Amino acid sequence: MADSRAFYATTPIYYVNAKPHLGHAYTTIIGDALCRWHRLLGDDVHFLTGTDEHGLKIQQAADAAGMAPLAFADSIAPLFADAWARLNISNDDFIRTTETRHRLGVQKLLQACYDNGDIELDTYRGLYCVACEAYFTEDDLVEGNCPIHKKPVEQVEEENYFFRLSRYGDRLLKWYAEHPGAIVPDYRMNEVIGFIKQGLLDFSISRTSFSWGIPLPWDDEHVTYVWFDALANYITAVGYGTDDEQFARHWPVDFHMIGKDIIRFHCVYWPAMLMSAGIEPPKGWAVGGWLLVGGEKMSKTTGNVVNPLDLIDDIGVDGFRYYVLAETPYGADGDFTYEGLIGRYNSDLANNLGNLLSRVATVVGKKCGGFGPRPRPDSALAAAAADALAETTARWNEVQPSRALEATWQLIRATNAHLETNEPWKAEPGPDLDAVMGDALEALRIVAILASPAVPDTAQAVWERIGMPGAVADQRLPHAAAWGGYPGGTSVVKGDPLFPRRQL
Ligand code: ME8
Ligand code: MG
Repeated sequence: MADSRAFYATTPIYYVNAKPHLGHAYTTIIGDALCRWHRLLGDDVHFLTGTDEHGLKIQQAADAAGMAPLAFADSIAPLFADAWARLNISNDDFIRTTETRHRLGVQKLLQACYDNGDIELDTYRGLYCVACEAYFTEDDLVEGNCPIHKKPVEQVEEENYFFRLSRYGDRLLKWYAEHPGAIVPDYRMNEVIGFIKQGLLDFSISRTSFSWGIPLPWDDEHVTYVWFDALANYITAVGYGTDDEQFARHWPVDFHMIGKDIIRFHCVYWPAMLMSAGIEPPKGWAVGGWLLVGGEKMSKTTGNVVNPLDLIDDIGVDGFRYYVLAETPYGADGDFTYEGLIGRYNSDLANNLGNLLSRVATVVGKKCGGFGPRPRPDSALAAAAADALAETTARWNEVQPSRALEATWQLIRATNAHLETNEPWKAEPGPDLDAVMGDALEALRIVAILASPAVPDTAQAVWERIGMPGAVADQRLPHAAAWGGYPGGTSVVKGDPLFPRRQL
């Protein structure tokens, strides 16, 4: 794929102190759908996820489980890999921070920053939240507690190595001024700029009070601070420190998909660390809001987790993926409710998409001998399909999956309206009826392509039932979605309902 454009996207690497929950699935599914969209565009996609396995929080969780930290991490990391497999996540790699390739890359990064004079020994006193693995100032606290976990922070004092973040304020502001679209949604950029303008404090990048981490290459009394270690996964996984050619092919990353809880680490610390080491900053960050349950962030620490695997047993993988992608505008917080999940499923999947396929297949079976007629080149639906393609593309470009799906679903609605206007179920067999059905089949073909990043199995089922050969995921935009691609003459299969209606 020498001439295709490289597209590299990442999820956060999740802490192995908790099993995968709905919040983790949220970011991972959005990253997956975005990467699937880019594969449709013909990009050479690399999609990375993984697990964050070092640091005090994991050491404490392992202690509590009565296990050695690595054995503990070994027991949890596969739960993430398995959950992603079950959710049809198309990651190309899965990095664990306990891997050798990662250690080598982290040590190379540390050494580069150290050699450039940006890492120095110093003493620090401050307030620490273990759940965040982060320091806070008095001003950050909410009623004396960590602003994210609402739990008490600890007073700590340590001699350790510091990264001179304070030197990078102006360079970061200049870089962001030159890259105004780098953070989506754009309102998150203002938050980052505001934070940098307040003045940046140096942060400690090593610890001596425990040993579960990567030793500093020049002082093995110290292990690397977990966030310095974790952020580096984005480069170590693509060869930094182990495979220069691979690194050159993938870096800089197109999008770091993250939640708003970790924006400072990703949009302030991380580009400064890279600048210090002489590596280009990321091209982009996509910052999602939180899924709330009863108004609270779903998190292990808060204790209100929903297991996504329980939900897919109930509503199906695509039912769940669709809900996650369609329900909330990307960037905003969304409240998870079971009613919302069922409501989305019934309205958009059962009533709109499922019903369209079933109506088309029924009429073609009864009145066209089971073979799909050809579409008309001048169908009124052709314009709706062109609009859907243009609008869906524009919204994926903005990383707005809910709006992209809204645009795709407009074509489904237009096609259902086309059937309701023409009432083919009442019409006599013949050329007029064939024309109506050919148009509907062509619209369904295009819908299958445009919806495939969100609901890959469903899209493939639609593709096959209307008689299209091969994999819908192998189609390439924009030409595959040009009106007229449905060949006609293929057998159309009704099959079981794709989305049986659910009761609450
Ligand atoms: O922070 N709603 O890992 P983590 C939406 N290891 N997204 C949520 C969510 C919720 N309720 N809860 C979690 C870490 N997430 C570090 C990351 S990266 C170099 C290191 C998602 O296990 C969201 O993407 O706490 C959030 O940023 C991430 O999980 C945090 O996962
Ligand atoms: Mg967290």
